[in-house]
Amino acid sequence: MKSLTRLIVTLLVALAGTGLWPGPAQAEYGDVVINNYSDAAGMRPVVFPHWFHRVRFRCKVCHADLGFQFKAGGNQINMLKIIDGQFCGACHNGEVAWSAENCNLCHSALPGTTTQVHESTLQKLAPPPPAAPASAAATAKK
Ligand code: HEC
Ligand code: HEC
Ligand code: HEC
Repeated sequence: MKSLTRLIVTLLVALAGTGLWPGPAQAEYGDVVINNYSDAAGMRPVVFPHWFHRVRFRCKVCHADLGFQFKAGGNQINMLKIIDGQFCGACHNGEVAWSAENCNLCHSALPGTTTQVHESTLQKLAPPPPAAPASAAATAKK
């Protein structure tokens, strides 16, 4: 765990140094809980681990090419679109990443967790960004 912390800190410092790191965008560390429709449909809300994805892909891949808005809950995502290859489905198709059949891997938040960015474990290891959302206390177990 120690070396993971060091790696993360090193990465942050390196990014800040290049000017590529746009500052403390919370979602870079936090998990985004998405719950526009899930609870109402009887599914657990979705947890999107932003940092996990961000270290694998450039911002542009998702926020430009795939059209994800920079806002927690700001995309009208549903399973038809995902199976059609939009949003998460552009990758979670059994080729780039495991497929949409793995319901519980995405629908993993505690029932009733509202749409939000909440701090992840990684965020606790790295220096926290200044303004954590007040709702950060509501945790979603994976
Ligand atoms: C790759 C991630 C992912 C996987 C895997 C996944 N979902 Fe979803 N699902 C989402 C996202 C994101 C939303 C939008 C969440 C919201 O706004 O509440 C969603 C929404 C839903 C909704 C509500 C909207 C709608 O389409 O009716 C249902 C029901 C649902 N999923 C069921 C399932 C079931 C059943 C499975 C497995 C067969 C599954 N999901 C697998 C990401 C996923
Ligand atoms: C693999 C796809 C992916 C990549 C890569 C990615 N993001 Fe995101 N980002 C998302 C998704 C999905 C959301 C949540 C959207 C939603 O809830 O509908 C999000 C949300 C956000 C938000 C809004 C969170 C909030 O506080 O409301 C910001 C800001 C953001 N991303 C910045 C970035 C930056 C900066 C990068 C690159 C350093 C990046 N993202 C890379 C998929 C991605
Ligand atoms: C640009 C491609 C891309 C997009 C878009 C994307 N993912 Fe992923 N995702 C991946 C890859 C690659 C992995 C790693 C798969 C593996 O380890 O086999 C992954 C892994 C995950 C994991 C597991 C994380 C872990 O700790 O192992 C979750 C949960 C997840 N994605 C949810 C989502 C949800 C929800 C969305 C849409 C809001 C989404 N992903 C959109 C590429 C993507």
